[in-house]
Amino acid sequence: MTVVAIDGPAGTGKSSVAACVADGLGYRAVNSGAFYRAVSYEALRRSAETEDAIVAIARDLDLRYGDGELVLNGARIAQADLHSPQVDEVVAAHSAIAAVRNAVNERIRSYCMERNVVVEGRDIATVVFPDAAVKVFLDADPAERARRRSGQTGADHGTVARSMEHRDTIDRTKPVGRLERTPDAIYIDTTHLTLKKVCAKVIAITHDILSRGRSN
Ligand code: DC
Repeated sequence: MTVVAIDGPAGTGKSSVAACVADGLGYRAVNSGAFYRAVSYEALRRSAETEDAIVAIARDLDLRYGDGELVLNGARIAQADLHSPQVDEVVAAHSAIAAVRNAVNERIRSYCMERNVVVEGRDIATVVFPDAAVKVFLDADPAERARRRSGQTGADHGTVARSMEHRDTIDRTKPVGRLERTPDAIYIDTTHLTLKKVCAKVIAITHDILSRGRSN
């Protein structure tokens, strides 16, 4: 099993880059944020508000990951539902609960077992796969990140920027699994780079690291 870990804040292109890199390498792309979003989506649907209720959902959810799509209770969850303003509002707080993180991490690790994967998120290189063969940290200017997100969702730029800033603050300061760059992660500032360029860079880095590993 080979793991390419891609971490970084929202709007840096992680999921597009992970999909493109996975395609280029013949690996599976795994979007860990979608697992947290599915927990929040279900918590909102069930009006679960206490920490215990949210943790129970994270542990017991009938959630599978097939062909890059999350399947909840036997049905695919639409991207629009995972990325709704309501989910955006609560997901950072839900993902800050340690027991929710443990439950999600177990699901991700078990899905990735025996597979070559490109996994993207916030704590992939630090917590989920600290032994990942390749670690990449994507970053971008906050204004550019908000511009990209509002382009994807069609939501107003100012609203997206505020919601992103709110989630970023929680994501960078939560006691466990916070967004952090490891010393061995390759840092790429994507502000002025196209998706194609970033993707090609990560694929080249991966080939380089794997070929060095083979020649040792
Ligand atoms: O990547 P995203 O914006 O879809 O992530 C949704 C939320 O989940 C965001 O607040 C960060 C959090 N998250 C996390 O804490 N750890 C991860 N590995 C992935 C996402």
